[in-house]
Amino acid sequence: ALLSAGAVQAAEYPDHSINMIVPFSAGGPTDNVARSLAEAMRPTLGQTIVVENKAGAGGTIGTSQVARAKPDGYSILLMHIGFSTAPSLYKNPNYDAKTSFEPIGLVVDVPMTIIARSDFPANNIKELVEYVKANKDKVSLANAGIGAASHLCGTMFSQAIGVDLLTIPYKGTGPAMNDLLGKQVDLLCDQTTNTTQHIKAGTVKAYAVTSKERVATLPDLPTMQESGFKDFEVGIWHGMWAPAGTPKPVTDKLVSALQAGVANPEFQKRMAALGATVLTKEANPEALAKKVEQQVPQWADLFKKAGVEAQ
Ligand code: MLT
Repeated sequence: ALLSAGAVQAAEYPDHSINMIVPFSAGGPTDNVARSLAEAMRPTLGQTIVVENKAGAGGTIGTSQVARAKPDGYSILLMHIGFSTAPSLYKNPNYDAKTSFEPIGLVVDVPMTIIARSDFPANNIKELVEYVKANKDKVSLANAGIGAASHLCGTMFSQAIGVDLLTIPYKGTGPAMNDLLGKQVDLLCDQTTNTTQHIKAGTVKAYAVTSKERVATLPDLPTMQESGFKDFEVGIWHGMWAPAGTPKPVTDKLVSALQAGVANPEFQKRMAALGATVLTKEANPEALAKKVEQQVPQWADLFKKAGVEAQ
């Protein structure tokens, strides 16, 4: 029988480079994961994956652009937990977390670190909380926009200490980190995939990690739970999606390239050095679909409790 055009196209896929959209600025944690993953997936696909940063609105601009892209496998999305918080934070994020995408798989889980500019007058989390409470109108907290992981962590921190912090939004925590290093902003909660090098170099002050256990590459950094914030735990899971309607033979190829990518020793070494856990067993569509299913209502509850309204 004649092969349908779709089947022919899928059989040749990919016959040119693929665009991986990162919905945050270059140089931030999401970008760091994407560029390492793109390199690790290239051998299986036999084509280059070009990482494109489409930043803004906490990642929803880039995410919605992929939702509207041609479903031919040449536009894919690398996004994280923000995929599941946006539905609670944006009245119209211009995509539907359940129907606009084909899930390809989970990639990594990344802990967050609460850090400050290197001359901030607090040397441990206790002093930090005291100082923030005593100077609540002066202390500024950077994030990558409403719906970003840094916004989620910042909201959890503000809620935990009962202080509504002045927040400065950036298009990614790459630029936010630049301002923190330049002492233009006071605090940031960001992922170890962006903060590890600065914490080790002492160019920022670090107070705690948000994971249940300490991070092997930052052994001296206490967890928030050790520091008395017993329910404070957040890990930034990252996933890969293709637009809804991408043919199955194409998404199957993306799944196998992702699975080879996360198993790649170079990728695994780099992620370990940055405190990230590679989700090798969950690099599949079912695991990602299940994760989104569980996370959307979980964060809807948190934001409702925090009195954060969708905008
Ligand atoms: C965030 O959600 O805070 C982003 O990961 C920041 C970034 O990747 O630039």
